[in-house]
Amino acid sequence: MERLGYREVRTPYVEATPLFVRTIGSSTDVVEKEMFSFSHRDEPLTLRPEATAGIARAYVEHKVHNSEPVSRWYYLGPMFRAERPQRGRYRQFSQVGAECFGDAGPGCDAEMIDALVAFLGDIGIASPEVFVNSIGSSDTRARYKQALVAKLEPVKDKLSEDSQRRLVTNPLRVLDSKNPVDLELVQDVPSVLDFLGNEDRAHWDGLRRHLDALGTPYQVDPKLVRGLDYYGRTLFEIKGAYDKLGAGSTLIGGGRYDGMVAELGGPAVPAIGFAAGTERLLIASELGSETSVVDVVVAPIGEGAVDAALVLGRDARRAGIRCEVDTRDASIKARLRRANALGARIALLIGDRELAEGVAVLKDLAGHAQETIARANVITRVADLLATPAPAPATMPGATQAASAASERAP
Ligand code: HAM
Repeated sequence: MERLGYREVRTPYVEATPLFVRTIGSSTDVVEKEMFSFSHRDEPLTLRPEATAGIARAYVEHKVHNSEPVSRWYYLGPMFRAERPQRGRYRQFSQVGAECFGDAGPGCDAEMIDALVAFLGDIGIASPEVFVNSIGSSDTRARYKQALVAKLEPVKDKLSEDSQRRLVTNPLRVLDSKNPVDLELVQDVPSVLDFLGNEDRAHWDGLRRHLDALGTPYQVDPKLVRGLDYYGRTLFEIKGAYDKLGAGSTLIGGGRYDGMVAELGGPAVPAIGFAAGTERLLIASELGSETSVVDVVVAPIGEGAVDAALVLGRDARRAGIRCEVDTRDASIKARLRRANALGARIALLIGDRELAEGVAVLKDLAGHAQETIARANVITRVADLLATPAPAPATMPGATQAASAASERAP
């Protein structure tokens, strides 16, 4: 996100309940069934089910539009929804997301979608599927809703109870029903894309043109409506890793919400954003499978060596080397086992004799070689070794390289 010019924003986990009702919509699943709400001294509060509303609230409250024509903000943190917990669906989950305020153009939308596809590739989620749609601005939606209701009204009694209710309160949501009978009945409803007004159509055509120029693969899904009412124009969802997550699980969802800032009392500032479920990304990706936690483990043998070990550990970290000092009163064998389990390349051992002689024993755990070095030179030697690929045979690499290379390994 930082490479795209986004900066981190942190907003409270708890917001006033009416904020969510107003923005997400009173007839959505999130507001009707999934919010953890409570009253504190007569003030209705809710654990945030998502971050967009709170971020827009902060944007308006701090009048950010006065100082920045465009604000690009990202966030990560916990969200809360009272859903039935299952794989990839939790009551407290975490999202990473972003919001861009102040840019109405479809180029902004295309850039976001394209960057997300690249990001998924980077974390090992190959060939994700991108679904895009436009539900236009409020005029378009009003016309489309009429047509949708006219089409579904004659078969109303066959719809699920939820959808019958939604046909009255929030007809677009009927398209999002998972009920198999509903799915059948909405099969040939008119496409919202045929109802786009001129400006909405220009925006939609622009989005597709930009995505084509970027070479971003996408599928148009005119029935994509998403579960939050604040959207207008662009909507998108990204799915993938069906083998690990099942077909129903969306990795990333987002869209435009050009009306929200004004709805919350600010000026007419357009906005678009997305959120990804962090747990779903972890299940679907290769993230978290890296085995190396530290580069070096320092093991003092006996209490007398702890001070020297702590100093070595601190010096190593100052040189950008990931280092853990294992001060447990455990056997050398146990500590080498732990060093291996942490994926450390090097163990540094200091016992009474090493302490007295001002040296440390350096064990290259990859090469299974060992050398005794003056403690003053240990960090340089460690940095050299770390800058050298682990040796295949059990020999120590001879040549030394610039110690500064180690800083490139800093996490
Ligand atoms: P959302 O579609 O409600 O959108 O959620 C986005 C993503 O959060 C989902 O695709 C999923 O990966 C994850 N997620 C949602 N609920 C759960 C859950 N119970 N357990 C685990 N993961 C979950 C939003 O939240 C919007 N705020 C996105 C947005 C930002 N639109 C504009 N700006």
